[in-house]
Amino acid sequence: MKQEGGTDTVIHSTMNSLSLFAFLCAVSAHSVAVAVVDTSGAYPSIPGTGSDECSVGGEGVLVPPRREVYEEGRVLDITHRYVPEMPVWHSSEGLGQHFLWLETSMKNGSHANGSKMMLGVHTGTHVDAPGHFYDNYFDAGFDVDSLDLTLLNGLALLVDVPRDQNITAEVMKSLDIPRGVRRVLFRTLNTDRRLMFKKEFDTSYVGFKEDGAKWLVENTDIKLVGVDYLSVASYDHSIPSHLVFLESREIILVEGLKLDDVPAGIYTLNCLPLRLVHSEASPIRCILIR
Ligand SMILES: *[C@@H]1O[C@H](CO)[C@@H](O)[C@H](O)[C@H]1NC(C)=O
Ligand SMILES: *[C@@H]1O[C@H](CO)[C@@H](O)[C@H](O)[C@H]1NC(C)=O
Ligand SMILES: *[C@@H]1O[C@H](CO)[C@@H](O)[C@H](O)[C@H]1NC(C)=O
Repeated sequence: MKQEGGTDTVIHSTMNSLSLFAFLCAVSAHSVAVAVVDTSGAYPSIPGTGSDECSVGGEGVLVPPRREVYEEGRVLDITHRYVPEMPVWHSSEGLGQHFLWLETSMKNGSHANGSKMMLGVHTGTHVDAPGHFYDNYFDAGFDVDSLDLTLLNGLALLVDVPRDQNITAEVMKSLDIPRGVRRVLFRTLNTDRRLMFKKEFDTSYVGFKEDGAKWLVENTDIKLVGVDYLSVASYDHSIPSHLVFLESREIILVEGLKLDDVPAGIYTLNCLPLRLVHSEASPIRCILIR
């Protein structure tokens, strides 16, 4: 299961004044952000990106750029922001306020601002390594550092999954994904329900049933599976579906992708995890380029 036995990561980062401003801005805008979510479907509909946020003040006020797309949609960021309201496996509280803090700050007499963070490696948009569900693979070192970067980067297909069921063998068959396609991002009802923007963990999310995972392994060339909630497996098949996917150690699972407002189709996917040695997962930054 996610989180259980997960490695906690403590990472130092030095913030410059602009990124600190961005951070404070994000925190203070947060209560507002929920209220300004654009539900019209028009782009952008991502909390935290409303044009009226953080633009207070006149001349000389620094306004950090926050983007989902670059170059008029040629580059799309499909990674979720790490914010206190981000959902966390089996939690009703979400990530919470305390995952990121200023450990040294100029206000307290330090020469620079330095933040620390602590979070489960399966938090937000993240990648699973074979050691996640296979103890012997974990012990043998099949961690995120051992994942194939050439698989995490390359041509990918974004497909819409029928919204009325979990991903079964029948659903996989109906998607008719051609042989030769190696990377597929599956957009489901989870995106419509905006589950990754709801802090309460929701077990009714859509994912792969065991037979759907088996069908993919046996009948396609897909080696990178991307999904739009915290697990590739439907809640009731959490263990068997992961076992099916990870057994061969050839399939990489990218979970918690932000696929809102992205047209279905073919893209170049770029995903880069942290090199966390001995960790069975890592937060990952993923973008699509067309
Ligand atoms: C450090 O943070 C303070 C706010 O606590 C800010 O005023 C200052 O500009 C920051 N300094 C640097 C070097 O980022
Ligand atoms: C500054 O120091 C005070 C007193 O030790 C502490 O309560 C506060 O949290 C510190 N603030 C930051 C941003 O480090
Ligand atoms: C998918 O499966 C979960 C149980 O794992 C269930 O709660 C949910 O309703 C199912 N979703 C659909 C669309 O059938």
